Amino acid sequence: MRVSRTIGELRAALAPFRPSSEVGFVPTMGALHAGHVSLFAAAGDECDLVVASIFVNPAQFGPQEDLDRYPRDPESDERCAREAGVDHLFVPSVHEIYPDGFQTWVDVEELAKGLEGAARPGHFRGVATVCLKLFNVVQPSRVYFGQKDAQQAAVIEQMIRDLAVPVELRVVPTVRDGDGLALSSRNAYLSEPEREAAGAIPSALHAAEEAHRAGGDAVAAARAAMAGEPRLDPEYVELARFDGRLFLVVAARVGTTRLIDNVVLEGE
Ligand code: PAJ
Repeated sequence: MRVSRTIGELRAALAPFRPSSEVGFVPTMGALHAGHVSLFAAAGDECDLVVASIFVNPAQFGPQEDLDRYPRDPESDERCAREAGVDHLFVPSVHEIYPDGFQTWVDVEELAKGLEGAARPGHFRGVATVCLKLFNVVQPSRVYFGQKDAQQAAVIEQMIRDLAVPVELRVVPTVRDGDGLALSSRNAYLSEPEREAAGAIPSALHAAEEAHRAGGDAVAAARAAMAGEPRLDPEYVELARFDGRLFLVVAARVGTTRLIDNVVLEGE
């Protein structure tokens, strides 16, 4: 696995493989876990070359958010990426992505308004901008995103369509722990009792799925399931339609940690 830290280095490393090799690209913020690994594997299955990036993108964090304490472990991330079959790892500095005088931003207007966009103003502007920049640097045939962040995948899909970005987006199913909790870099913040309380989120998604299948109210079922766990503070529990599929989406706090998850109620 080759590690590049500048745009120039990565472009030079990939140049010999173009145009014959199909490049699959997985953008991440590091603190890699089995969810990220499943994206690397999906890229490896379909593409000749797997490129991943690790960049904790300041532009997608609000001023009161966890940018400073976001888990960073470059050595273990490099090991994990190498073992997972990543061929090229791009680890740029903040200055490499946002040099002095940077002033061009991508705003996906409607899709970025509700849910995460409402809870985290400016979040999707930061996500869309960094993703488009990374796509321009890597020039992949396909990019891989997790269903865990369903609204994010929908925002990126919309950007690709609106700006005719020559790339195909693949959405990969959510990887979960034994009790159903979606893997997330932010799970590292949870104490043991908090981790236990977080288990109420997948239980709520399961209750929602069952209720919907029986013709009942998925939102009410999810809320009721979470109400049984006093350490969990739900922020939103809503139905959302992305790309023709109906989701139940949840954001909740456990202590100071904010977690999101979702389940598909209708559609492939
Ligand atoms: P990050 O949270 O590191 O996630 C990188 C990718 O991994 C995203 O597409 C996310 O949906 C996916 N992912 C996270 N947890 C997953 C799980 N349990 N199962 C499957 N996939 C999972 O999302 C970001 O970084 C950033 O916003 C980024 C797109 C890199 C832009 O900065």
